[in-house]
Amino acid sequence: MATGFIPQEIIDEIAAYSDIVEIVNEYVPLKKRGRNFQGLCPFHHEKTPSFTVSPDKQIFRCFGCGVGGNIFSFIMQIEGLNFPEAVEKLAQRAGIPLPKQEMTAAQKEELKQKERWYKINELTAQFYHKILLDTKFGKKALDYLKKRGITAEIIEKFHLGVSLPDWDGLIKFMNKRGVRYKELLELGLILPKNSGRGYYDRFRNRLMFPIWDNASRVIAFGGRVLDDGEPKYLNSPDTPLFNKGYYLYGLHLAKSSIRNEDLAVIVEGYMDVIACHQYGITNVVASLGTALTQQQARALMRHTYNVAIAYDADIAGSNATLRGLDILGDLGCQVRVVNLPKGLDPDEYLRNFGSQEFSKLVAQGENLIEYKLSNAMENVNHASIEGKIKIIQSILPDLYKIDSPVAREGAVKLISNKLGIADTSILSELRKYRQEKQKFPQNKDRNSEKRENKIVNLTDLNKIEVQMLKILFEHNKYFADVEKVGGKELFTSPLNELYQQMVEKFLLKGKVIGSDLNEKDSELLAFVLMNEFDIPNSDKVVADYIKNLQINKLNKDYSNTIKELSEAEKLGDAEGVKKLLSHIEWIIQQKKLLAP
Ligand code: CTP
Ligand code: MN
Repeated sequence: MATGFIPQEIIDEIAAYSDIVEIVNEYVPLKKRGRNFQGLCPFHHEKTPSFTVSPDKQIFRCFGCGVGGNIFSFIMQIEGLNFPEAVEKLAQRAGIPLPKQEMTAAQKEELKQKERWYKINELTAQFYHKILLDTKFGKKALDYLKKRGITAEIIEKFHLGVSLPDWDGLIKFMNKRGVRYKELLELGLILPKNSGRGYYDRFRNRLMFPIWDNASRVIAFGGRVLDDGEPKYLNSPDTPLFNKGYYLYGLHLAKSSIRNEDLAVIVEGYMDVIACHQYGITNVVASLGTALTQQQARALMRHTYNVAIAYDADIAGSNATLRGLDILGDLGCQVRVVNLPKGLDPDEYLRNFGSQEFSKLVAQGENLIEYKLSNAMENVNHASIEGKIKIIQSILPDLYKIDSPVAREGAVKLISNKLGIADTSILSELRKYRQEKQKFPQNKDRNSEKRENKIVNLTDLNKIEVQMLKILFEHNKYFADVEKVGGKELFTSPLNELYQQMVEKFLLKGKVIGSDLNEKDSELLAFVLMNEFDIPNSDKVVADYIKNLQINKLNKDYSNTIKELSEAEKLGDAEGVKKLLSHIEWIIQQKKLLAP
């Protein structure tokens, strides 16, 4: 992580002066519950509080959506900052000056590199824009835009441009300005020639759309052919500044109106966003041709919980819609699907019918159940009994997730009407589904699993390791016992890294606090500490835990050795076989010692 140039002691000091309860409370009203504080999670939409902050441990965790971490990760996520920025903000708050001059040469270079990358992107955007407006070649693209009804004002607002048909238009331009190939390559603006010698422009003869981040910096480009060429759109690859799944096109222009309208409209493409703006609809973002990702959904949810999806009504579009619905629905958003006539995207619809009609469609959007039902009815023969059963089965998980009894009743009525089935039958299917779920709580629905997946699949973590780490956090004295018999090696990834961090902090300072850890480890720690599990207060029980860890380790060692053994046998490696057999002997003895 980019801890950057800020020395650890300063970070510790900032953490010590930053009370997590006090700071979180500025964003989320918290109430005391036992030793912890609780409130409504700011990272997903919920009606009953599952967002928990621990003052003793200086960590937070939401049991609804799974986010968690320390005070630095809280500020990073809620303010959309990177680590150094979050440290700076908390330092200011705590009145602790940051020693900027402490940057090492390498860190200075890293910072400068980033600034240069942004500058090069900006310069590239200017270059394409200028060609569009001021050159003879640009005239062709300008005509194309005019033909599509795009105004000069919109060209400015979105800084549209065009790339030259030459293989080295951008390269020549950048050469004159002393920009290195290496940097153009890192930004995905050029590609190495097949011959291995020299480079060529990635974007040629295309209408160019700069893509911005939230701070209005150019981070990537999309390019559209000016005719019917292939591929129609070409985007920047992932670069140090850009990751497709993380950004929404147009968010920097849409933020304030999304807040004002308390609604965001998601469309598929560049041209849809642009058309919406031209027609005065500015609360629009594009997910750039892919289905919405969780990161994109979270970025939207900083501004509103109400989202309308307006994707094309083709198969790709409706699949993307279904996935977007699930992601947004699970994060607690109110989602609607805009029912565009087949074959039209928002751009075409607006140009044909105008903004009033479009706004009407948005307002009339179907809710999640309505959409899923009509979607299922289009794809399944709902005249047959089997078809009806299939449709109901496919909707049960969504029905089950509806919290409000009134809303659920409405949904059941709707299904009953549309399918011509008594609502008592639907309710009894729902009851069966619920019982099934409660009988097998490990059959978590795919989405809550997905949530936990955010960094690691927390549900897969070894239970004993998790519990041991909680014991160690509460009773540091046991670190010595664990270190004696293997320390880090007793834990598996990613908990072994967390253990290592914890033991290092303990050795350094005589204690461990959540705010000392990096983002990933503090998220893991939050998971560990907020686990429902009572710390045993007997040395004997803890000793059993440690034994268990040792046995687990030996078991793993055993099965690995067995695998190696059969390899060695296959290869006829007699020496190896002998060694492995004696290692197996040793493992068995060790196990006997531990569990006689
Ligand atoms: N897209 C892409 N790569 C492709 C096709 C599409 O990245 N090969 C993305 C683009 O962001 C595009 C969006 O998916 O804007 C929607 O694609 P499509 O519906 O094909 O294009 P339109 O936006 O309708 O483009 P246009 O109206 O200019 O034809
Ligand atoms: Mn289109």
